[in-house]
Amino acid sequence: MTLKIIQVGLGMHGFGVALHYVKKSDDFTYAGVVEINPARLKECAAELGVAEANCYTDYLEAFASCEADAVFVTAASPYHYAICKAALEQGLHVLVEKPFVLDIGEACELVELAKQKQLILMVSQNYRYQNHVLSLKKAISEMGKPLFVQAQFFYDHFGKDYQQVMENFMLLEMAVHHVDMIRYLMESDIRTVSGKTWNIEGSMYKGHPNVQASMELDNGIPVFYLGSLVSKGLSTPWEGDWRIQCENGSIHLDDLGQGYGVYIVDQEQNKRFISYADGPLPDDKQGIHSVLSEFAARIKDGAEPTISGRDNLRTLAALIAFSDSSRTGEVTYPESYIVSK
Ligand SMILES: NC(=O)c1ccc[n+]([C@@H]2O[C@H](COP(=O)([O-])OP(=O)(O)OC[C@H]3O[C@@H](n4cnc5c(N)ncnc54)[C@H](O)[C@@H]3O)[C@@H](O)[C@H]2O)c1
Repeated sequence: MTLKIIQVGLGMHGFGVALHYVKKSDDFTYAGVVEINPARLKECAAELGVAEANCYTDYLEAFASCEADAVFVTAASPYHYAICKAALEQGLHVLVEKPFVLDIGEACELVELAKQKQLILMVSQNYRYQNHVLSLKKAISEMGKPLFVQAQFFYDHFGKDYQQVMENFMLLEMAVHHVDMIRYLMESDIRTVSGKTWNIEGSMYKGHPNVQASMELDNGIPVFYLGSLVSKGLSTPWEGDWRIQCENGSIHLDDLGQGYGVYIVDQEQNKRFISYADGPLPDDKQGIHSVLSEFAARIKDGAEPTISGRDNLRTLAALIAFSDSSRTGEVTYPESYIVSK
C-alpha cells in the first residue's frame, strides 16, 4: 500500500529530497507540497509533477484539507517545531529533517505528543544509512574493543539567512550528524561533555561556527571532536575525518592514499581500504532512500524507528550540553536535559 505524504519546505535541500528521493520512493506518493514562497512553490511543483490543487503556501491549510498519512518536514530548521506540532495534532505521522528542533524542551514535548497520539515521529539522521558509516560500524566489530574516538570536520560555509542568525549554528546544523554518528557507531549515549564553542572576527554568523568537545560515553569510551564551518583551506567531506582506536588496530574514515573511505590498519601496519562502492548498500538504498523506507515500514507496523524522535533526544541533548558547557565552563550531563522518557 502506497502512503500519502505532504512535504513542507522546498528550499535547496527540500527540493533535492523531493526530486531524488520522495518522487523515486515506492512507499510514498504526494498528497501535497507546501512552500511559503509562492514563486518557488510553483516552479518546484511543476518539476515534481504535483497538481496546482495540491500546492499550498500554508501548512495548516494543507494538513486540514489534504487526505494524507504523513508529513515530511524539510523547511528551514527554526520552523521544525511548529510544523511538527501541527502535523501531530492533525493525526499525521512525522518525518523531520535534522536538527529535530532547536530546543530540547520542545523536542521532549513533541515526543510526548507523538506517544499520546500513537503516531510515528522520526528524525532524518540520514548518515546512519550511508555506506561509509555502515562500513565503519562493521569494521569496529572486527577490530576488538574501541578505546577512543577522534573526529574532525572542516568547511568554509556560506550560511543561509536563517543559519546566519541561529543560536548554536554549527552544533545544530552540522555537528548533529557527527554526534549522532558517535552514538550510533559506539552503541552508547554520551554521559559527560566538556565543550567550547566560539566565533571568529568578521564572521557572518551570530551563533558560534566552531566547536571543540571532549566527551565520555556511557560505556567509558572517550571521544574528541573538533568542527568548524568557517575554515578556509582544506575541507573534509561532510562525514568528517575519523580515527577509531580499537584494541587490535585503528579504523579510519579518511583519505589515507586510495581516496576517501574506510581504512582498517592492523598491528603490523597492514592497511585495508573499503571504498564507498564496496559498502553494503546499493546507491538506490543510500541515505534518505533508506530513511523513507524505514518511515513507511514503521507507519505500517507501529514499531519504534531506530532514528525515532525519542532516540534523537540523546543527540540533541548532547549538542545543547556542548553549548552550555562552553558558556559555564562546567562539565555537563546530556541525560539531565531530557524531561520525558
Ligand atoms: N540531512 C541532511 O543531510 C541535510 C542537508 C541539508 C539540509 N538539511 C536540513 O534541511 C532543512 C532545509 O534546508 P535547506 O537547505 O533546504 O534550507 P533552505 O533555506 O534552502 O530552504 C528552506 C525552505 O523552507 C521554506 N520554509 C520556511 N518556513 C516555511 C513554512 N512555514 N512553510 C513552508 N515552507 C517554509 C523556505 O521558504 C525555504 O524555501 C534544514 O533543517 C536543514 O538543516 C539536512
